[in-house]
Amino acid sequence: MIVLGLSSGTSVDAIDAAAADFHLGPDGVLRMRPLGHTEYEWPAALRERILKALPPAAVDMGEVTQLDTLIGQEFGRAGRQAIDDVAGGDVDLVASHGQTLYHWVVGARAHGSLQLGNAAWIAERTKRPVISDFRVADIAAGGQGAPLVSVLDALWLGRDPQSPDGAPAGLSAALNIGGIANVTLVGEVEAPVTGWDTGPGNCLIDLTARQLTGEPFDRDGALGAAGTVDQAALRALLDDPYFAAKAPKSTGRELFDATYVPRKLASVRPDLTGPDLVATLTELTAVTIAEGLLTVAQSIPADRRSAGDAAAEPQREVRRVVVSGGGAHNPTLLERLRAYLPDGCELLTADQLGMPIDAKEAYLFALLGFLSAHGVAGTAKGVQRRRSTGARRAAVLGSLTPPTPLVWPAFTGPIRRLVLANTPFGLAPMPKGTHR
Ligand SMILES: Nc1ncnc2c1ncn2[C@@H]1O[C@H](COP(=O)(O)OP(=O)(O)O)[C@@H](O)[C@H]1O
Ligand SMILES: [Mg+2]
Repeated sequence: MIVLGLSSGTSVDAIDAAAADFHLGPDGVLRMRPLGHTEYEWPAALRERILKALPPAAVDMGEVTQLDTLIGQEFGRAGRQAIDDVAGGDVDLVASHGQTLYHWVVGARAHGSLQLGNAAWIAERTKRPVISDFRVADIAAGGQGAPLVSVLDALWLGRDPQSPDGAPAGLSAALNIGGIANVTLVGEVEAPVTGWDTGPGNCLIDLTARQLTGEPFDRDGALGAAGTVDQAALRALLDDPYFAAKAPKSTGRELFDATYVPRKLASVRPDLTGPDLVATLTELTAVTIAEGLLTVAQSIPADRRSAGDAAAEPQREVRRVVVSGGGAHNPTLLERLRAYLPDGCELLTADQLGMPIDAKEAYLFALLGFLSAHGVAGTAKGVQRRRSTGARRAAVLGSLTPPTPLVWPAFTGPIRRLVLANTPFGLAPMPKGTHR
């Protein structure tokens, strides 16, 4: 089954598209063959309208309605184009994340999440069924609705002691640095995982770079590398209850908005600007990621392994960090992150393991579309009988447009692993057409 994933992240830099061919074996091994990915620039005027509508802006319902339509039309256009560009015209289902405008979190709980980009437009333009609105089912089940990538990370990076594939013993941390950064901590196959947003990824750096240079981001980390970290400012920025809160937790541009940095620095370094400010914000991103993942790893409760193995201490050592997202292109950020990681912890990019760094989120939505179409939950097992998002139960995610019956049979067995197959299928013993 071929699924096209469409997504635009909190950076609002582009609509990402990726298509993958999925084959699910009776052994619970899901083989995913990436067919290709690309991105489509937002029309400049629409991008400006989206950025203007983000928190802390007050927006009227007329604008919300118009954005829902315009973003839906743009996703539809991108989808129709991508079906030809990356999948040779052969796509069975479109899975669209849409554009997040608001992620409603109060204290430790998520209450809602609004992604615009109406699916009716996408179905109309792609002539394919569309699954969209992936986050709210998990929120309704008591979860954060974010980050959703944990299910991909758990299936993909879980270490199988029977066939370790070169994965080190201990924990892998999958790190995606978009506008917001998120981490999933993964141990052995089928062990519970923890996923959470660490806080700002590129969003605060982008806002500052834009003010300083008019460029949308700090290209290749040049400003960050030229500046010096201001320790007093860094301390003030780190003094936020979000960084101290326990995982799982999620956040967005509602908290890390354009007023965040001036508010935090008002009483300590209101004059901080230029490369020194960018260097300080780069350090903030690096330190909150590294400290977050090491703290969460240390606090993994003893129920991490299977019930029969209850006496065993869980793995708490992070042995590798697998980076994706646009922040992986910022060498200054990666260098600062490296500085906070313990010796013996490897830092590698997702593409070194076969997952394109700029398309991981789009491939995630392709995977979620596949799971939802088969009635399989879109979250991974978490600690303490919760899901990776903190939800009380495993929810099948998303809504289907149009609501016609799906042609794919429900899959009832557990999916154990995701194997990225960069070679044509046929090598694996798969009954032909079973899941197509
Ligand atoms: N060459 C680069 N140098 C520095 N930062 C980059 C570079 N390329 C991309 N980025 C960063 O990546 C961001 C886009 O990352 P992306 O993963 O698409 O985030 P999102 O999921 O929020 O859309 C840009 O806004 C920018 O901050
Ligand atoms: Mg993006």
